[in-house]
Amino acid sequence: MSNLVIVGAQWGDEGKGKVIDVLSEEADVLVRFQGGHNAGHTVIADGQEFIFHLIPSGLLHEGKIGLIGNGVVIDPEALLEEMGRLSERGIDVQRAVKISDQAHVIFPYHKQLDLLEESVRAGRIGTSGRGIGPCYADKTARCGIRVADLCDAAAFAKKLRQNVTEKNRLFQALYGKPPVSYEELLERYTGYAKRLAPHVVNGVRFLREAIAQGKRLLFEGAQGTLLDVDHGTYPYVTSSNATAGGACTGSGVPPTAIDRVIGVVKAYTTRVGEGPFPTEFPPDLMERIRTKGKEFGATTGRARRCGWFDAVVARHAVWVNGCAAIAVTKLDVLDEMETIQICTSYRDGARPVEEFPSSADVLSRCQPVYESWPGWQADTGDAGRFEELPPEAQRYLKRLESLLGVPICLISTGSKREQAFKIGCW
Ligand code: IMP
Repeated sequence: MSNLVIVGAQWGDEGKGKVIDVLSEEADVLVRFQGGHNAGHTVIADGQEFIFHLIPSGLLHEGKIGLIGNGVVIDPEALLEEMGRLSERGIDVQRAVKISDQAHVIFPYHKQLDLLEESVRAGRIGTSGRGIGPCYADKTARCGIRVADLCDAAAFAKKLRQNVTEKNRLFQALYGKPPVSYEELLERYTGYAKRLAPHVVNGVRFLREAIAQGKRLLFEGAQGTLLDVDHGTYPYVTSSNATAGGACTGSGVPPTAIDRVIGVVKAYTTRVGEGPFPTEFPPDLMERIRTKGKEFGATTGRARRCGWFDAVVARHAVWVNGCAAIAVTKLDVLDEMETIQICTSYRDGARPVEEFPSSADVLSRCQPVYESWPGWQADTGDAGRFEELPPEAQRYLKRLESLLGVPICLISTGSKREQAFKIGCW
């Protein structure tokens, strides 16, 4: 038995989609456990690009089942649109997509609030504007609407009315905005419920039975450790637990059923949105790496901020996730660099900082301490084994392993499915 959790070990966009695609060949059930359609996992298979937002990306492989777990927040319109798009491209979503009845539902008022809150917030977060934060806020405030409610006409009508009344008070009194229409939402979402109902399951039971049948589960983290609401650079984070613990709370599988956690890192670092980022490149290098790495968001198209590999960040991620190994992606993006820097610790003024700071204010004061490594200035895209990488690239990766204290289990050197090799993941 081997149930695997894959999480981002930086600020998201680590290339998890590609790693999941490679590893899900050996899994039976793919599980999304947090986040929503703020995520965008890109997979390139047989020359075609697929972008997954809510649906587990491992479904590209035939015969797999994907569960959208209770920890996910679902915009039904976005989900149906994604199902339609994947179905047109030959993926049997009718059979393969299951939705937990405990997942929370995003409504247009969540999205509106997301945008309004950003517009008045003193320190912008730079959210994806998809209503993620306000939907999780309702979940925690215990007034959210779950998939089970959506599929129960009487319960839905009652809960929706309560929520719309409450939100309209807020829109009018606080933001001077017109009210949203209860009737319009009721009709629209009742239509979504009919279309989604055949996919809805008791997620806890579904996974318990899958485990009892000896099926292998792969949990697909979205975003990344540094965007985790508890362990990231709060408040510049998303509103869910993107760390491995979220795989249990967001799916109903107990910690004892998880065998292994793999953290995914890029060979450098990126982040989208606001917040401290100690190893951020100066403008010339930023442009060079952003262009080479095509560092633009798969969901919002925003340009990603880019920087050197930060071992303080990744060490923090290895610990809070309990990573047994890491997967390193986009090594090829560094192919032309003359020298490569690795941040090994920080300095806060004269004070050395080894531990990832709990406060974003402290982190924003921290200066990176770098060590320099010679670049390999050779193409890594065709390497099929570690030994086929240029010696400087091998040394760089070995150094990452020693700084993080865990082995590298997979290396990706390009966007194509073939441009990745495993060193033993299960
Ligand atoms: P939210 O999740 O839309 O509330 O956005 C909160 C923060 O998380 C913002 O900085 C976003 O840019 C960031 N974020 C959310 N989803 C992703 C993702 O999938 N990749 C990278 N950053 C993300």
